Amino acid sequence: MYYTVKIGEVRLIALDTTIKDKHFGGLSEEQLNWLEKTLRQYADETTIIAMHHPPFQTLIGHMDKISLAYGGNRLHDLVKDNAQVKRVICGHLHRAIDMGFAGAIASTTPSVAHQVVLDISPDAASCWNLEPPAYKIYVHQPNVEVLSYIAYVNDYEGPYPFHEGGKLID
Ligand SMILES: [Fe+2]
Repeated sequence: MYYTVKIGEVRLIALDTTIKDKHFGGLSEEQLNWLEKTLRQYADETTIIAMHHPPFQTLIGHMDKISLAYGGNRLHDLVKDNAQVKRVICGHLHRAIDMGFAGAIASTTPSVAHQVVLDISPDAASCWNLEPPAYKIYVHQPNVEVLSYIAYVNDYEGPYPFHEGGKLID
């Protein structure tokens, strides 16, 4: 599955990387051919590509064993050739990563449920924990390319003012 939609001034391109009954993912020739055509068609629009499996190694061993198994190299080349792509946003990892990817920023997002334990070793145990559930908010404004925030699902104490009567509270 794949589709594109304009949200405000941003062109969102969604690519379904899931494969039935598998934990790893992939991008098919058909999807990548469509992506190439779509990027050419909307070359002047700030673009975000959204997909489930990240197209990079996370260093968390058990997650990298179920990563994007194919199509990542061609995706990399297409992003490199299309400077309008500012972000490649992904899920799957249940933990936030941001990294450079072919001149854009590729990222994963925390989960709104459980998180994958941060253990960047090849033989990391396949474990999850209950770190705070979170998600990302993407903002696009004139003169601000694409900005992202991590926001938490639960309510926390505060807000507390930094200042009172014009003075910093110790
Ligand atoms: Fe997944």
